[in-house]
This record gives sequence, C-alpha cells and structure tokens, in this order.
Amino acid sequence: MPRYLLEIKDLVVKYYALSGIVRAVDHVSLAVKPGEWISVVGESGCGKSTMAYSIARLISPPGKIVDGKIVFDGRDLLRTSPKEFRKILGREIGVVFQDPMTSLDPLRRIGDQIAEVYMTHLGMKKKEAIEKAIEVLERVGIPRDKISAYPHQMSGGQRQRVAIAIAVALRPKLLIADEPTTALDVIVQDTIMDLLQSFKKEGTSILFITHDLALAAERSDRIAVMYAGKLVEEGPAEKIVENPLHPYTQGLLKSVPDLWGPKKIESIPGYPPDLRSPPPGCRFHPRCRYAGESCRREEPVLRCFGEHCVACHRAWVK
Ligand SMILES: Nc1ncnc2c1ncn2[C@@H]1O[C@H](COP(=O)(O)OP(=O)(O)O)[C@@H](O)[C@H]1O
Ligand SMILES: [Mg+2]
Repeated sequence: MPRYLLEIKDLVVKYYALSGIVRAVDHVSLAVKPGEWISVVGESGCGKSTMAYSIARLISPPGKIVDGKIVFDGRDLLRTSPKEFRKILGREIGVVFQDPMTSLDPLRRIGDQIAEVYMTHLGMKKKEAIEKAIEVLERVGIPRDKISAYPHQMSGGQRQRVAIAIAVALRPKLLIADEPTTALDVIVQDTIMDLLQSFKKEGTSILFITHDLALAAERSDRIAVMYAGKLVEEGPAEKIVENPLHPYTQGLLKSVPDLWGPKKIESIPGYPPDLRSPPPGCRFHPRCRYAGESCRREEPVLRCFGEHCVACHRAWVK
C-alpha cells in the first residue's frame, strides 16, 4: 500500500476577482494516509474550502489552480482527463458540504437521488439501485420508510445524513467534509461526527474542514492549521492540542466555539487579512503579540520537528 492516499504538493489557487487577485491557497502541501482522519482548521476566509475543492476539481472561474500537484492513489488529479476524473469523483472521492442542499435536489425524492449514484456509476437498473439506496440510507441511520421523502420533509440533521449517504454510497477511499456540522445544533453535530467516524473505522480517509479546533481535536489523527492561505502548523492531533507551537493555533485553542462560526476569535485581536494584499513577512504578524522585526520582514517557512511542523519565527521547541 502506498504511504499516502492523497498528496497535495505546493498548491497555489487564485481568484481573479474584478477587485484584485485573491491568493486563496498559497503553496500549501498536505498528505493524507490511508484510513486517516485529518482536519483542516482555521477562521473563515483562510482558504480551507478552496484547498478542499481543488482536490475535487470544483474550482471554477474566477478561481484557478495556478500551480502544484495533487496525487491521489497514484494518479495526478490535475492532469487526468475530464472523463477519467468523472470516474474518480463520487466513486473514489466523496464530498459533503456545509449545506446539504448544495448536493440535494429539492424537487426529487431522496431515494431516487441516492439510487442515481448507483445507476450512473455502476450502471445498475432502477430496482436494484433503490435496494442499494435503502441499504445505505439505513447505514447512515435513516429508517427505510424515508426513501420516498423529499428533502424538505426532513430535519437539517437528516438531510446531512442523506448527503453523506450519497457521498459514501460507492465507498470512496477519501471523504472530504467541508464544515458538515456547522449549521446543526451541537447534539446533532455530535451524531454526525460519530457517523463520519464510523466510516473511518471501515477504512475511509477523512479530510474534515472546520473553524472549530476543539471539534477537530476530538476525532482527528492529525490537524493542519491554515491561516491566510498558508499552512501554519501541522501535526498529530494530540501534539497540536497539548503543545501548539504557532501563536495562531494557541489562540484558536483558547477561543470559545460558537455555534454559528466565530466571526472573531476572542483571544486573538482583529481578523484574517484581505488575501488580495496580505501583510508582508508572516501574515499573522499584525495580530500576533510575539511579533518582532523578523516577523514583519521575512516570511517564515514550515519547519518540522519530527511529525510536528510549524511556520513561525518565534516557535520554540520543548
Ligand atoms: N468565487 C470567489 N471569488 C473571489 N474570491 C473568492 C471566491 N471564493 C472564495 N474567495 C476568497 O478566497 C479566500 C479563501 O476562501 P475560502 O476557501 O472559502 O476560505 P474558508 O473555507 O477557509 O472560509 C477568501 O479570501 C475568499 O474571500
Ligand atoms: Mg469554507
């Protein structure tokens, strides 16, 4: 088995907006092992979704993947043909979005929507596909009698389960989940996290995106922290939580999670920068209480101490 299921190397993604060029993902590298749960954490606007959607090739104009490489299970995803990629997305890579209605059609019964996955990818007949749909629906914790329901007849939590059912229907090797619980209340949030973890136990790698470091810490094998389009810290979850090296990660840990997503992290003053013109040097320096001269001038590179990597001039190592 290859060491990594997914390897993102030096990824650069920009949005060519009318008001300027947004450097949303700026030379980010990240690797995911088979069966691993990795969480990407950071405030809103740090480039998490852009990074994740690049893997699924869901970046459309004015966005563009400008540089880098994404290798998935031995294939260079940015170079596979559209025909080849259609076989990978949905089959080997599943995606769950924050709002389940992104992937659900409000006008069609959920059973038909799940069945369609089997019909399109595996060429199944309708009857057999519906049988499979019932199976996967029960697997995500929804009773079979809901098969004929429309999305609006379900709760937000149930709709997210249906969206997960569609994403995992073909047992993908990688499940990308972008803030899948952010719009749900905490109890439902927990049951969805349990559900994702159950797929991990069956061998699926999970790339989980969240603004909530505490939530990520509970389930992840590894955590990657993004700030202003950059990867600023990465390592085993317990190391990130017990010994965060980047002042940004330290601030995230001290912040109180907010159901609707913190607009502002209380322990860190200010906001992430405008990515059309990020600050020079370390992008975090205007908000960092440890910032010195070098932080204002020189961009810190990611340095690794064993498995724990950090991009900070002031990071100390115990
Ligand atoms: N379609 C778009 N056009 C212009 N800028 C965009 C677009 N989508 C996202 N961005 C910008 O890219 C940056 C990263 O956004 P995003 O990947 O959504 O971050 P996150 O998921 O961490 O909240 C932000 O500055 C955002 O404003
Ligand atoms: Mg996002």
